[in-house]
Amino acid sequence: MQRILLAITLFGCAQAWAHDIITTPITFDREILRIIDARCATCHHSGGPAFSLTTYKDARPWAEAIKEEVLARRMPPWGAVKGFGDFRNDQALTEEQLELVVSWADGGVPEGEERDIPPAPKFDATAPDAPPKGSVAVSGDFTVKSDFKLDGLWPQKVPDKASFQITAQLPDGSLEPLLWIQEYKQQWGHPFLLREAMDLPKGTVIRGIPKDATVTLLPPDAGLAAK
Ligand code: HEC
Repeated sequence: MQRILLAITLFGCAQAWAHDIITTPITFDREILRIIDARCATCHHSGGPAFSLTTYKDARPWAEAIKEEVLARRMPPWGAVKGFGDFRNDQALTEEQLELVVSWADGGVPEGEERDIPPAPKFDATAPDAPPKGSVAVSGDFTVKSDFKLDGLWPQKVPDKASFQITAQLPDGSLEPLLWIQEYKQQWGHPFLLREAMDLPKGTVIRGIPKDATVTLLPPDAGLAAK
C-alpha cells in the first residue's frame, strides 16, 4: 500500500525529473545496476518475489527509497554488528557501494549509457516458500531436545517492527549470538543462512524469540537458494 502511494506521489513529480540537475558521474547503467544485481535482484527482478529494480525505468521512481533501504542495511540484521549473525546470503553493502548509491540518488539519478549495462544475471527458481523437512519452528524460549545442526534461521511469523536478539546458550554455558532483528520488516521473512553450520547439542537453549513470533531453525542441505 505504502508502495502504491509512493509510486503515485513520485509519478506526480515526473515532470520534475526532466529538469534534474546532474551533479554526479555515477550512473544507473554503469555502477548502480551492478550493485542491484549483486545485492537486490535475487528478489527484485521481473517475475521475482519483489518488484523489479533491474531497469532504469523500474528503479527510477524508487531512487530515494533505494537509498534509504541501502543505508538501513548498516543496521541489524545485516550491518553494524558483525559477529552477531554472519550470513552467507548477506545483503549488507560495502561502504564504497553505499557511497555510490547515495551519490547517484542525491546527484540527479542519471541513467547513463546503454553500452554500460552489464549482462543480466540468471536467477534460480525461487526458494521454497515453506520451511523444509527437519526444520524446527520456535516461539518463545526453547530447549533443543536432540543434537541439531543449525544452518540458518527463517523468520516465519513476526509482528511488524518487533525487535529482538536470538542467542543460543550451549550446555557448556557459552553464548552464541544468532540473529538480531531490529524493527522487523516483512521483507525479512526469508532464510538467513549461516556462513558455517553450527552444532547445537541437546540441552542448548534458544532465547530471544518472542512468544508471539515464530522463527524456524533450518537444518543443512535444505535446498535453500543462497540468496
Ligand atoms: C530476500 C529478498 C529481497 C532482497 C535481497 C531485497 N529485497 Fe527489497 N524488498 C523485498 C520485498 C519482498 C519487499 C516488499 C515488496 C512489496 O511490497 O511488494 C521489498 C521492498 C523494498 C523496497 C520498498 C520500500 C520498503 O521498505 O518497503 C525497496 C526500496 C527495496 N526493497 C529495496 C531493496 C534494495 C535496494 C535491495 C538491495 C540492497 C533489496 N531491496 C534487496 C525483498 C527483498
